Amino acid sequence: VAPRIAWAVELLGLEADDRVLEVGCGSGAAVALVCRQLEALGGSGPGGVGSVVGIDRSATAIGRAVARNAEAIQAGRARFEQVDLAGFDPVGRSFDLAFAVNINVFWTGSADAECEVLARALRPGGVVHLVYDGPGLEGARDVGPAVVGNLARHGFRADVRRGVGGLLGVSGRLG
Ligand SMILES: C[S@@+](CC[C@H](N)C(=O)[O-])C[C@H]1O[C@@H](n2cnc3c(N)ncnc32)[C@H](O)[C@@H]1O
Repeated sequence: VAPRIAWAVELLGLEADDRVLEVGCGSGAAVALVCRQLEALGGSGPGGVGSVVGIDRSATAIGRAVARNAEAIQAGRARFEQVDLAGFDPVGRSFDLAFAVNINVFWTGSADAECEVLARALRPGGVVHLVYDGPGLEGARDVGPAVVGNLARHGFRADVRRGVGGLLGVSGRLG
């Protein structure tokens, strides 16, 4: 598992019945790790009710993620949707946690549509973690303040933390 993904999932601090949303799931490696942890926490019996939804706007990514997580999908633990975050409709679902790894939209502009969707998808008190690889990816630009500001305009109390190897995380709690 890549360090950025291991750290993002560690930040979630998963509990057995958490409902989790991953934005920009790519080929589904983080979803697979979340499923393994939810299973370990809840066992294989009916007590383990946690679940994860992975969304990505790329059909190729979703195809790979579905193939990688076939068993978890079968078990009702994982689900994937091909959709851009701005167009994602939570339709009555309420997530405890959301996360995204290396998703640029949160710092390249205002990300108003995207943050608004996150604020609707999470329950009150829900938390989003946005993780970025270090300087290699964003040309040494510190994206933390931009991400914090964008989340703050949509009701999140956000702060920045640093992980090993230049990883940067912004965590925002709703309400
Ligand atoms: C750089 S990759 C990162 C993939 C994975 N999170 C990882 O760390 O390996 C970005 C992925 O997010 C998807 N993506 C980027 N912006 C998105 C958005 N606004 N809504 C949905 N998917 C998005 C892309 O299609 C791509 O699969």
